[in-house]
Amino acid sequence: MRTQVAIVGAGPSGLLLSHLLAADGIESVVLETRSEEYVASRIRAGILEQSTVDLLRAAGLADRLDREADPHRGIHLQWPHERHHLDFVELAGRQVFVYGQTELQKDLVAAAHARGQDVVYEIDDTALHDLETDRPSVTFTDSGGTARRLEAEVVVGCDGSFGPSRTAVPADVRRTWERTYDYSWLGILADVAPSTDELIYAWHPDGFALHSMRSATVSRFYLQVPNDTPVEEWSEDRIWEGLATRLGHGQDGWELTTGPITDRSVLPMRSHVSQPMRHGRLFLAGDAAHIVPPTGAKGLNLAVADVALLAPALTALLRGDHARADAYSDTALRRVWRCTHFSWWMTTMLHTSPDPFDRQLQLSQLRWVTSSEAGATGLAENYAGLPIGF
Ligand code: FAD
Ligand code: PHB
Repeated sequence: MRTQVAIVGAGPSGLLLSHLLAADGIESVVLETRSEEYVASRIRAGILEQSTVDLLRAAGLADRLDREADPHRGIHLQWPHERHHLDFVELAGRQVFVYGQTELQKDLVAAAHARGQDVVYEIDDTALHDLETDRPSVTFTDSGGTARRLEAEVVVGCDGSFGPSRTAVPADVRRTWERTYDYSWLGILADVAPSTDELIYAWHPDGFALHSMRSATVSRFYLQVPNDTPVEEWSEDRIWEGLATRLGHGQDGWELTTGPITDRSVLPMRSHVSQPMRHGRLFLAGDAAHIVPPTGAKGLNLAVADVALLAPALTALLRGDHARADAYSDTALRRVWRCTHFSWWMTTMLHTSPDPFDRQLQLSQLRWVTSSEAGATGLAENYAGLPIGF
């Protein structure tokens, strides 16, 4: 097989990249270990930044999003007996949109089908070769058990945090930074109308809680739990009691409505950055290069921002102009580190630590962010998302 750009991974970054390249007349083949249905049903991110939505609109991918996504002006930040709304539109002139990653993935798959995109699902044994030459290739075993080789001019690793692309950058070139956290999230999906107009991020002595949503009839919740918590430890009753306490059921007339839980899982959290994001003819985008804890809702948006830079850079490279491809890693990493800091800051401000000194600092920070226009604007600017190319 031969193509211009071999894309490893058919998550949001891989499929969006193939879409943007096709719009520029560049051919690509996408390789994916999982099935189309499996990738589309993974419950992950829920919030799109303004710049992500602007990019999807410009790419012709936002018809359903514009009908179904729920625009939010901001978020609520709370701690016991206090809830404050931050209005991002007033503070930073930008809003965010509730639209699940599952929905975006469905839109990307539909667009791939519509243009006849070559996506090879259910492959095995992915291996990257000759990345320092201008004839790199990817070998794999297809779903029928046949060994195949895809030759390309460029290989892009969009294969998430466990794929082989990141470690294809040689160890003497690659530098990584990592932070692990002492807690995980128990994520819950429930068939119940949201009990709030906009997301509630709650600091509580029992641990952080987040009330998010997917639609008018489906809510998404998260609870801070210790690492390695078995999901069976949290019965339906315990989950609803924990959420009611941490989110402040009964305070100032606010009530949490409960409903059937349809999905629950424990998600570990970490920060990770791997640089450079380019080595020879290999480029990395999305979770293949960086992971953020989900408290800032940045993971998916950062993947989209990488691809928004990379698509025009590759188009120019394949037409003989190297400048943007040469600048890709440094340009993308500026935003990556900004989002890495913001995600770490939100995480450490909101997750309860056993240290009483830390708790006082967290509460002081929350009071400042919700009472000072400068503090609130900083949060709003980062959460609603900086312009692509920042
Ligand atoms: P991915 O979506 O991970 O896609 C990578 C693809 O590559 C996958 O489909 C994978 O199967 C494929 N692949 C892997 N190995 C190979 C191989 N060897 N060969 C071929 N294909 C391969 N972000 C938020 O903003 N909010 C959240 O609430 C949130 N929750 C999350 C929960 C979980 C459990 C995880 C893992 C992530 C979550 N994220 C969240 C992060 C967000 O979902 C990711 O940032 C986003 O999916 C990144 O997209 P991507 O395309 O770069 O990577
Ligand atoms: C979600 O809805 O899944 C979600 C929302 C905001 C976050 C993280 C996850 O910060």
